[in-house]
Amino acid sequence: MSRTPAISFAKPSSISEGVLVLLSGEETGLAASAAGHDPQGVLPRAVEAASFKGKMGTSADILAPHGTALDRLVVLGIGKPSALDEQAWLKVGGAVQTAARKAKKVTVILDVAGAEASSTEAAQLAMGILLRAYTFDKYKTRKDDANGDGDKETAFVVACADPAGAKKKFAELEGIAGGVLLARDLVNEPANILGPLEFAAKAKELESLGVEVEILHDADMEKLGMGALLGVAQGSERPARMVVMKWNGGKAKDKPVAFVGKGVVFDSGGISIKPAAGMEDMKGDMGGAAAVTGLMHALAARKAKANVVGIIGLVENMLDGKAQRPGDIVTSMSGQTIEVLNTDAEGRLVLADALWYCNDRFEPRFMINLATLTGAILIALGQHHAGLFSNNDELAGRLFEAGQATGEKVWRMPMGPDYDKLIDSKNADMKNIGGRHAGAITAAQFLQRFVKDTPWAHLDVAGTAMGSPTNEISQTWASGYGVRLLDRLVRDHYEG
Ligand code: BES
Ligand code: MN
Ligand code: ZN
Repeated sequence: MSRTPAISFAKPSSISEGVLVLLSGEETGLAASAAGHDPQGVLPRAVEAASFKGKMGTSADILAPHGTALDRLVVLGIGKPSALDEQAWLKVGGAVQTAARKAKKVTVILDVAGAEASSTEAAQLAMGILLRAYTFDKYKTRKDDANGDGDKETAFVVACADPAGAKKKFAELEGIAGGVLLARDLVNEPANILGPLEFAAKAKELESLGVEVEILHDADMEKLGMGALLGVAQGSERPARMVVMKWNGGKAKDKPVAFVGKGVVFDSGGISIKPAAGMEDMKGDMGGAAAVTGLMHALAARKAKANVVGIIGLVENMLDGKAQRPGDIVTSMSGQTIEVLNTDAEGRLVLADALWYCNDRFEPRFMINLATLTGAILIALGQHHAGLFSNNDELAGRLFEAGQATGEKVWRMPMGPDYDKLIDSKNADMKNIGGRHAGAITAAQFLQRFVKDTPWAHLDVAGTAMGSPTNEISQTWASGYGVRLLDRLVRDHYEG
């Protein structure tokens, strides 16, 4: 990550330098206080001349406004102030970050006509600045290449009624943003740099936040009988790892909640090799593991009052003389046997052992796994919802609500015995593909065979974790999807 802008909070006093951003509602216009920053009264005419109506995301720029020492004065539209929810404030923050361009100092005045902005909202705006500012340009040696931002750092001041309150709230949100940016970094990083060992080492760094981190080596996994996960890894020069992260912020006696992530650092497809076009995207096939790691960062950084386990299975799916073949039969840790009919359906093999291990060792209150599992979920839902599959209506409902609140949306898909039958195998307990139809669902049915009766949800994030469309708070290939969603789920239902 190239730039982490410095953000501070202050009272709105006389601002004399840099860029000043004022907010304007769609129907309400500017707050009365705006006049105080516009000694020459240029704003009303300028806004009119720019046909600026205050729509969310639009802005009007006034250069070197007469009678001030400011470089620019920016009026930023925020739409209907009464409709400004948490997500909207993040977006306003994103727009403030864009309005800054190359400025050294930007002050945004949080005064909205007809609506008092709370300190929480000020903190959300600040979080939006952080999320929008992220770029992955560490491999660009000519920094001026990178989105035209140069290597200048902008200092942002959020001027609001209660700076101390906003600062306190922001300390929490900054921790969550840190988790999102960590997940983005992990997904953006190419596979030659980030293999299973390097990913595990990144997870180990969470110890500095108080997370307990254990790393299982291939020999450990062999002893545990994780034949499904190890079968995927055996065609790679780089050995597999499983990372167990524990955040103990709750009461000692409370059973943990658990998150499990698919961490295929590169998915060539194995012997069932993928076509060349687009294969480079498979460096992001650890988006589930990245989200779990980012989530653990977020929860620890904000000292969540919950016991949380995060488990990630890290492998590389490659092909060589030792690689697993179509037709091979492997024995999973559960004892169930799997006929591997397509080596490109590898994520479910990794998760089969990770889910079983998680359930067996921790008896968690629930397990939620995240995985860039199927192309089929992209066909079904595109890039704006993750596929949600669950054996538990309450958990599914809570995930849906958290998705609506954060904008990291999920959409529930059906499951059932008719779909489950499709993965029965002639030669083993199950096969790892279900045929042409309902590919995302048969993948979920496969996972369900490894969770017993534990409340469980599977999020297929193949469409949401990578190749992400840019938006108000993300300008990068890897959205960091899942961190805000699951942080919210924990906060709303499993703390205290
Ligand atoms: N990692 C892929 C799924 C994927 C596809 C993620 C596109 C992101 C974007 C997964 O391992 C895979 O290859 N799935 C196969 C399953 C098939 C062989 C049953 C797929 O979806 O084609
Ligand atoms: Mn695959
Ligand atoms: Zn994969």
